Formats: sequence, C-alpha cells, structure tokens
Amino acid sequence: MAQINFNYDALSGNYLFAEIARKISAYRAAHPDAKIIRLGIGDVTLPLAPAVVAAMHEAVDELSRAASFHGYGPERGYDFLAEAILQGEYRSRGVDLDLDEIFISDGSKCDVGNIQEIFAPESVVAVADPVYPVYLDSNVMAGRAGTKQSDGHYSSIVYLPCTAENNFAPSLPSRKADLIYLCSPNNPTGEVLSVEELTKWVAYARENDAVILYDSAYSSYIQDEKVPHSIYEIPGAKEVAVEFKSFSKTAGFTGVRCAFTVVPKALERSGRKLNDLWNRRQCTKFNGASYIVQRGAAAVYSPAGREETQGQIAYYMENARIIRTGLEEAGFTCYGGRNAPYIWWRLPGKIPSRVFFEKLLEECQVVGTPGVGFGPCGEGYLRLTAFGEREQTREAIGRIQKKFA
Ligand code: MLT
Repeated sequence: MAQINFNYDALSGNYLFAEIARKISAYRAAHPDAKIIRLGIGDVTLPLAPAVVAAMHEAVDELSRAASFHGYGPERGYDFLAEAILQGEYRSRGVDLDLDEIFISDGSKCDVGNIQEIFAPESVVAVADPVYPVYLDSNVMAGRAGTKQSDGHYSSIVYLPCTAENNFAPSLPSRKADLIYLCSPNNPTGEVLSVEELTKWVAYARENDAVILYDSAYSSYIQDEKVPHSIYEIPGAKEVAVEFKSFSKTAGFTGVRCAFTVVPKALERSGRKLNDLWNRRQCTKFNGASYIVQRGAAAVYSPAGREETQGQIAYYMENARIIRTGLEEAGFTCYGGRNAPYIWWRLPGKIPSRVFFEKLLEECQVVGTPGVGFGPCGEGYLRLTAFGEREQTREAIGRIQKKFA
C-alpha cells in the first residue's frame, strides 16, 4: 500500500501566501465592487526593463533559426549569464568566485526549499523567528522539525528570535545548530545584517562545522553602502556558506523566473564538496532555466539594463519611504523599508495580527501579511510590501491614516 509522507501532517495549515490569496478571493466574491489594494505578497508591478525585453526578443529570434537554435542547456546554467553574475555581483565587490560555483535556476524559492536535500536528515536546523516560511516548511516536509508545540514552535528546530529589542538581528543559538538560514535584507522585517553581525555568524559556523544558508534575494535594495551585499564579503565565508540571489525583485522576474545559488568549492562537509552534491542534485532533477530567460537576466548587467532596473528599484524604494513615513505620521512605529522593500508595522495595542489583517481588509480594503504567519515572534506586526503601484500605495496609506490615525 502506498503511504504518504506523514511529515506533511506536521505543516501548519496552508502555505502562507496561498492562504492570503484565498482570503482575498473570498472577500472579492462577497464585495465585488471593493477597490482592494494588495500590499500583501511581495509581487512586482512594474513591467520588464526594455533592455531585458530586447534581449529576450533576440533570444526568441535565435531559437527560430536552425543555425542558432538551442535545445537543452547546461543544468548549471549558461556561462554567459554566470560570467555576467560574477562580474556584476561579485568581482565588483572584491569577491572572487569561479563560474562553476554559480548554479542558475528558475527561482530562489525552489533553491532555498530544495537545498536541505543534500544534508543529513538528522541535521539540526536553525531559523529566525519571524522567517520566510519556505525555510521552515521545507524542513518540516523532510521530517527535521519534530512536533508542533502550543507556542507555535517545532520541537526540533532552533529558533532565533528577531525582535525590536535585538534590532531584528538574531543572537547565536544556545543549542548547537548544523544548518542556519539567514536572510538579509530580511523578509519579513525589512532589516539588514551588518558586517559585524555576519562576521559573528561566519565565526560560529566555522567553530561548529555548521553551514549558513544565506538568502540575499533582496540585496539590490540595499542603500547603505556599509551593509554587505554578499556573505562572501566576510573573510572565511566561502568555507561555511551557500548564497541565494534572485532576479525576481532585482529585475521584476517574479513571473519570468530566474535566480542563482552560489555553492563554493571550498565548502566541504563529511569529506564531500557541497558543490558536487548540489551539481548532482540539479543535473538529476532540473534541466536548467530557459535560454530566453537567461538571456533576459544577462541583460540586467548591461549598462542599459543596470540603469533601467536601478530605476525600478528606486521606484519601489520611494514606495517604501511613502509607506514608512505615512505610518509614522499616523503615530505608528515601523521597521525596515530603508534597505529593503518590506515595512514591518508594529500594530497598536495587543491586537493579534490575523485580526488586524481582517480589519484592514474590511475597513480599508488594503491587504497586508499578518506577522504571525512568519512565526510566533511576528505576532503584533503586519508586513506591507513596497512593490505596489505608486498611486495605489499612496491611496492605501491615505486610507490607513484616515481610519487609524
Ligand atoms: C514574499 O511576499 O514574501 C515573497 O514574494 C515570496 C517569495 O518571494 O516567494
């Protein structure tokens, strides 16, 4: 008899953003005339940059001719894109990596979810609280989480609370952790880890033979030049860290799909190179991102592509400023939004974030993401995204000020 993977029973309800989408659909069905403004899921709204579109058109034309047609590409991705990434993201910051340390994929969500497969089932996992739900849920599915406790935490997971008291920078774990997920700029808090904080984590990982799984999908939003864009800016990080970056938010690729994961060859555990293991995994389960998409991603690093995508980022960061200052003017405290496209809104009183989510939808027709959906320490907060359209963002903040100021 076929048995299911019973670890799925330990997951908490639906995937966070699927649940929010379901609630919006139900509200829309009950209030067909409501002008809902969605600042919930971090999904981009600006169209693709012209340089990206031109490169993708050209790639389609190439595929239309027998002489320049491409079938399966390299599982690891095309060298033209890996080379553009090395130059555009790393060499320019003094980080030296090889082409075969870059693995191009169709999204960081898949990569941060899949990377746990190359580690032993008994690995002890540490995650921030609050946290992007994929890190935790993928380990629950793999059976590493244990049982869910009454406080919302899983028994086998090491939690790293990120609160206003510690400036949303996690402290080192009191219990030994093998796999540590860190995210900076952070989703959901919108705060960042400094060189000192990252240095502390790299030292911990080196002392404890741990591996840091470093999600820096939002690094292009960093405005403060002192904040590291890559964990490899920290000496010694190549022996302890895998890094994930994405074109989703950097260049509006949430629907196009392209990202990359860096697995340095210096990173070894149990006498094996993690680069070999991830390569084996990708060759077996993945056939590479589309040629057209990779041509579009490479164009992000062209002079025109850079200028255009930086313009998009500036647009979203202006939205972040509008949200942050609008909430502050209304008397609220909020975090993030300075080096990241997320604003972490401290809710008034002791109102539970799921209750406030409903209230905001009912009374302002504005959608956010309840903080508790990211973990128990997210209770009392609501996340707003800066990826909306400008006028809609202004309108949402105006409605909030009118209702709650
Ligand atoms: C978010 O809203 O947290 C992100 O859009 C989710 C994602 O990138 O997968």
